[in-house]
Amino acid sequence: MKFFRSHSFQLAGVVGLQLALIAIAPTVADPARGAERSAMHKSSVPAKLAYCEDCHGPSGQGFHGYFPIPRLAGQQTEYLKNQLEAFVEHRRTNNIMFNVAHSLNPGMLSALANDFHALAPPPLGGGVRHLVPTGEKIFQNGVPEANVAACAACHGPNAQGSGEIPRLAGQLPDYVFNKLINWSKERGQIPSKPDISAVMSPVAHSLTRPQVEAVAAYLSYLK
Ligand code: HEC
Ligand code: HEC
Repeated sequence: MKFFRSHSFQLAGVVGLQLALIAIAPTVADPARGAERSAMHKSSVPAKLAYCEDCHGPSGQGFHGYFPIPRLAGQQTEYLKNQLEAFVEHRRTNNIMFNVAHSLNPGMLSALANDFHALAPPPLGGGVRHLVPTGEKIFQNGVPEANVAACAACHGPNAQGSGEIPRLAGQLPDYVFNKLINWSKERGQIPSKPDISAVMSPVAHSLTRPQVEAVAAYLSYLK
């Protein structure tokens, strides 16, 4: 009984999301394909993965839609899991990803995190080329005069991340830009449940918009 109840709840959520998807992801603009997908068994890992890729792009490479949808390919498993839990717990705000994540059971969540970690399509790039050298300097050395630590100190010299610290290499530049500019409105939203997002807050607050644009450009071309 419990199974049926949660399963139909999940299906209702998925149908609603597919309507939302038509508006932002051209990959599901074909209604026949959407219907075929709806008929697939929703609880299988490949079906869920395909569903994530409708928004996050083929092989989780990221997608520039109405707003940027982040690359998940090669992302750290622990980071992926923590963010999916953060959406569910509203530690991180995003209505779309709340709806997606709250229906994932722990087994599915781990399987998807492992699968996306293992993918390695080439980055989409797209950052402003002439800003790359400035961005590299910020990433590798920080901004000492503004008390900003080197990004590389936490995210690694090649921006691969580790554990709950995300990989940034190959991330969409407009996504990186939006996240850094909006940090305190989106992350660590439950004061009684402080999380690791707090260590990024001072960094995000201290960077100027041109610095954010430069570092995002540099990251977008890293493999
Ligand atoms: C309807 C579109 C849509 C679908 C389907 C979707 N996502 Fe997302 N996802 C988004 C958007 C948009 C964001 C960016 C949220 C933000 O800007 O903070 C996002 C963000 C994420 C993030 C945070 C990434 C980061 O770098 O912090 C993870 C993890 C994630 N999605 C995993 C998944 C998984 C796993 C699935 C499939 C079960 C999935 N998403 C399906 C739209 C979608
Ligand atoms: C003290 C360690 C630390 C330093 C220094 C640091 N970061 Fe982070 N960063 C983190 C952690 C931890 C997270 C994960 C936050 C979360 O869970 O919400 C993160 C998350 C991010 C994200 C969000 C990624 C996503 O997929 O949504 C971006 C973008 C980012 N950092 C960029 C930078 C940049 C650029 C710099 C240097 C100017 C930097 N970070 C320096 C620890 C650090």
